[in-house]
Amino acid sequence: MNVLILGSGGREHAFTYKLTQSKKISQVFVAPGNAGTANIAKNVNINPTDFNAIKNLVLTNAIEMVIVGPEAPLVEGVHDFFLADNDLKNIPVIGPKKDGALLEGSKDFSKKFMQKYGIPTAKYQSFNKNNLELGYQFLETLSPPYVLKADGLAAGKGVLILNSIEEAKAELKEMVSNQKFGEASTTVVIEEFLKGIELSVFVLTDGKSYKILPSAKDYKRIGEGDTGLNTGGMGAISPVPFADKSFLKKVEDLIVKPTIDGLQKEGIDYRGFIFIGLMNDNGNPSVVEYNVRMGDPETEVVLPRVESDLLDLFEGVAHQNLEEKSFSVTSKTATTVMLVSGGYPEAYEKGHEISGLENVKDSIVFHAGTNNINDKVVTSGGRVMAITSMADTIEEALEKSYDSINKIHFNKMNYRKDIGFDL
Ligand code: AMP
Ligand code: GLY
Repeated sequence: MNVLILGSGGREHAFTYKLTQSKKISQVFVAPGNAGTANIAKNVNINPTDFNAIKNLVLTNAIEMVIVGPEAPLVEGVHDFFLADNDLKNIPVIGPKKDGALLEGSKDFSKKFMQKYGIPTAKYQSFNKNNLELGYQFLETLSPPYVLKADGLAAGKGVLILNSIEEAKAELKEMVSNQKFGEASTTVVIEEFLKGIELSVFVLTDGKSYKILPSAKDYKRIGEGDTGLNTGGMGAISPVPFADKSFLKKVEDLIVKPTIDGLQKEGIDYRGFIFIGLMNDNGNPSVVEYNVRMGDPETEVVLPRVESDLLDLFEGVAHQNLEEKSFSVTSKTATTVMLVSGGYPEAYEKGHEISGLENVKDSIVFHAGTNNINDKVVTSGGRVMAITSMADTIEEALEKSYDSINKIHFNKMNYRKDIGFDL
């Protein structure tokens, strides 16, 4: 089978890595991909939101399945586009349609959904420029810190956590009246601050049944000890030691089942991943957010632990017989450490040559912001590559990742040396 993966990060390299291991695969195409996916698949320089170009690619290469990495094509309706096209409608897309993608594309929608189906989450209300005064009043009923979220997609920057009520009111006004995050902050969700430790659980569903994938914890801040600016993610670990059986049972009963049931009741035929960002407060889970895709770098630790054939699972999603598919996960721990360009998440340089990759033996190198230029692998993004290792313990896996990192070099390379420090 020929398949197409949309996206260009470490997540998409991990999908490519897993899918090329399937016996049923003939050719994997990645649009646009990176230097890592180019080694094991065919990159095609197409933007994942250019649906007409995707159509042309799919039809000329007899592609039989499309797997969507990032949220933007889903929120913009790539799945709906396929279903509405006579030539494409029988080609399965792994990822929800626009209606399901609202779980990530609108915080207001996802909070209403959780409230309606009794899924534990922070208390909230939504406001816009016409009821700003009510927003100020709602803030007065909460205690600090205050959490303000732009309703729409804001490239991961739309959440503000503020310590003073004055700041919170000023920012609320900036968001709704002055469009601080553009269209995305026309509506703002204000919610109660949740205490606890964060982790993520990933679900693959065909709309009827589901498989719960390994849990993971990512490290979002640029600085050691979880300090400094937020990034897309600087490293991840799976499984999460504090997510024990009883906690995961609560997650399944209180969150996963009601989410799948709720989607059905809403008439949303959801086929793809649900990434559930959770807060664990003394063993009790509540939902911080839903994403309608896999996480990055979480995928780089989740997929290497999945022993089952990923294409077989995707076929289960496409044909709604996921329940019949075998699914197994290794008990080994996976760790990943992200190498980033110096300066990231602020301004950084691109185009630096990456050397030493051939010396890495004990880890898997998942490329993110890399490119091939004149037969050289060069940096082309902030997050450059994720170095994943597997072992019996977190300590051993991390040691392998850091040993491998010592063999890799590029100008102004930066990474966190304390991934897993809190576990
Ligand atoms: P989100 O985009 O909703 O995941 O928010 C980004 C980050 O903000 C989360 O990963 C949390 O670290 C933090 N956050 C969001 N909502 C809350 C909340 N209600 N309480 C505490 N932290 C939160
Ligand atoms: N690592 C967080 C995310 O993918 O959203």
